[in-house]
Amino acid sequence: MQLCNSGGHALLNHFLPRVCNITTTFVDVRDHEMVKDTIVEGKTTVLYLESMSNLTLIVADLPELCRISHDKGEKVVVDNTFTPMLLSPASLGADIVVHSLTKYISGGADVIAGAICGSASLVNSLMDLHQGALMLLGPTMNAKVAFEFSERIPHLSLRMKEHCRRAMVYGTRMKKLGLKVIYPGLEEHPDHTLLKSMANENYGFGGILCLDMETEEKANQLMSQLQNCIRFGIMAVSLGYHETLMSCSGSSTSSEMNVEEKKMAGISPGLIRMSIGYSGTLEQKWIQFEKALARI
Ligand SMILES: Cc1ncc(COP(=O)(O)O)c(C=O)c1O
Repeated sequence: MQLCNSGGHALLNHFLPRVCNITTTFVDVRDHEMVKDTIVEGKTTVLYLESMSNLTLIVADLPELCRISHDKGEKVVVDNTFTPMLLSPASLGADIVVHSLTKYISGGADVIAGAICGSASLVNSLMDLHQGALMLLGPTMNAKVAFEFSERIPHLSLRMKEHCRRAMVYGTRMKKLGLKVIYPGLEEHPDHTLLKSMANENYGFGGILCLDMETEEKANQLMSQLQNCIRFGIMAVSLGYHETLMSCSGSSTSSEMNVEEKKMAGISPGLIRMSIGYSGTLEQKWIQFEKALARI
């Protein structure tokens, strides 16, 4: 599996080995030789990865990684939380696709839920009355929550397009200002061409961008201006909301990782993750951003 969101990291690195006797090995999904060498045929059962990694925005080459895994008899599980609509991992070879619905798919930052998507036989096995983990352990979705999602999914496509469009504009302008910005839509991003080759048309390159302010202090100063003085966005660890959400991930969502693990995952102490929203006009929000930047 690939280093991933820190809750996922803690689950895979600590909980599963300790409680469920499931051993895990972390690999860099960009290093296909490493992925190949790590799979022990007959022993390794699953390659688990994020389509776009939280939080360094590394894009996984899904067709190639699925090919490598399937050749070795392994299943591929893809967390597509960062790229709903934009990427369709099942069409690119994944066996199972998981989503945190809490983020883009909800869009309202008000419902906590997740989804496991796979073949009918997989879903039926999870719901089996005698053996099904979901049936027996509890996380079956509340029917009212399921209804809420059914009302939001029809406009997910429109919302994603606007998140992506604005992230592209802001990413480009931030770069022009000389800021250190990570965004797969920028040509110099190492996975720009790869993402373009896999993405569904008209969705762009995702709604998340990362701004590296180098130190936590500078990151906090900027976020404080943006939230408290200028009202550009809100400091929060979630993503996929209509307002822009910002977090200094090294000290928030990735705080479960130790210094070495953060370094390995490329998480600098001043990295701000921005989930670009679409409330207000694009130009009005951009003026606010420039104002906050000038103040610090
Ligand atoms: C890529 C990814 N997957 C899954 C999750 C978990 O989401 P939830 O808190 O809704 O379970 C997160 C949380 O940030 C995430 O970033």
